Parts: sequence; structure tokens; C-alpha cells
Amino acid sequence: MSSGKSLNVLVIHGPNLNLLGKREPKVYGTTTLDEINQGLTKFAQERGIQLRIVQSNHEGDIVDAIHQALGWADGIIINPGALTHYSYAIRDAIAAVDIPTIEVHLSNIHAREEFRHTSVIAPVSTGQIVGLGPRGYLLALEALLGGKS
Ligand code: DQA
Repeated sequence: MSSGKSLNVLVIHGPNLNLLGKREPKVYGTTTLDEINQGLTKFAQERGIQLRIVQSNHEGDIVDAIHQALGWADGIIINPGALTHYSYAIRDAIAAVDIPTIEVHLSNIHAREEFRHTSVIAPVSTGQIVGLGPRGYLLALEALLGGKS
């Protein structure tokens, strides 16, 4: 960032992502959530980015975390898990705070079951990264760092 102010980013992991590593490894791989967070933290530290990382299995907690980003976060990275496909509350929260948001999915939701092809989050997101595994989170951070140019 040109202002010299550090970039503040909120990372949100939704339902069932706490089980990464043992959850359907053929679909989601064997990397644990802790390992993903360690990778993000290292990547952020090297670039002077401040991270706040939240995991919740509860829709309302995720809405609260998005509200709490107001006035602090310059960007949000969110993998809403299954809530991606039906949570208008999360969609409205992202629209309400108006903070650039990147939606990340480990798997390619568009190549899976029909119900996963719809994201109610995508229309209020800056971009969507799917199917690239844990690397998708780092690419999202990189995208927020670079802005839209
Ligand atoms: C997911 C895809 C969702 O459809 C699923 O419900 C998840 C994980 C992914 O990262 O690929 O929980 O968001």
C-alpha cells in the first residue's frame, strides 16, 4: 500500500473446515486448518500484513466477525463452507460492510454436485478462487495486497 499503513485482513473459515486434514481427504487434501493458518501467517508477516483469523461452525458468529471487521479490515478472505450455497445473512453482511472480499474454496465447487455450483456470496465478492487447495488463500492475500490494478 502506498500510504505506508499496513494492510489488515480478516480471514474467515466456515463450518467443518476445522476438520481439514481428516475430512474427506480425497476432496479437501490432508493439510490441516492449523497448517493453512501457519502458511497464511508466514506469508502475511513477510509482507507486513496484519491478519485476524476466525473459524466458526455458526452462521451468526460469522456475521458478527464480518461486522467487527468494520473500521479495521482492508480486506476479507472467506471460505464460508456449505454456507456459501445458501447464507443470505453472510451475503448481506459482506454487502453491508463494503470491504473488498475474496471468496476461497479448496475444491472446485463448479465441478462438484449441482447444489455447490451456486454461491450466494459470489455476487458481493471482489473475486472467487476455487479448486487450488490451500494455495488459494495465499493467492487471495496476494490479490488483496495488489488491489484491483
Ligand atoms: C468448500 C466447498 C463447500 O461446498 C463445502 O460445503 C465446504 C468446503 C471448499 O472449500 O471447497 O465445506 O467451501
